[in-house]
Amino acid sequence: MNTLPIRTYGDPVLNLVTTEIENIDAKVAVLAETMIETMYEAPGVGLAANQVGVQKRLFVYDKGDGPVVVVNPVIVETDGEWTYEEGCLSVPGLSWDITRANVVHLVGFDLDGNELSIEADEFEGRIFQHEMDHLNGVLLIERLDADQKKEAKRLLRQRRFPIASHDPDGLHLL
Ligand code: NI
Repeated sequence: MNTLPIRTYGDPVLNLVTTEIENIDAKVAVLAETMIETMYEAPGVGLAANQVGVQKRLFVYDKGDGPVVVVNPVIVETDGEWTYEEGCLSVPGLSWDITRANVVHLVGFDLDGNELSIEADEFEGRIFQHEMDHLNGVLLIERLDADQKKEAKRLLRQRRFPIASHDPDGLHLL
């Protein structure tokens, strides 16, 4: 199995905005395959390229029916609200109820360069928003309210939380 270490809170690579992929070539395909294996090994249900230290606009996910790769993703429309307990492979051991849009229309490209257009809601829509945040250098902590954010940063400074995942199936880890 070919995997990469997942960068965690405090690693500056997680706060950088990623850049577009100009050529969807064999190198991108190898990166995507490695990211998929890394995501399954974690385990988690979504992984953005900068979580493995690559500053490119690419994420992979599996909502339960197989891996999907999205290159140069863009959210073009959102609707509604949905609250979900969200965790992140880069912030191990912590999760929060976070309200985001429910319905999300995502466009991008697959590894063959074909245009993708996916309208999703609830869990899949949540994955899209979480991974887009990663690609824009934003961690889920920034989506908390002021009190939660203060508490999260205190916990993360002290690292007094289990580093191992509390979620052995990785279903909340995006
Ligand atoms: Ni994440």
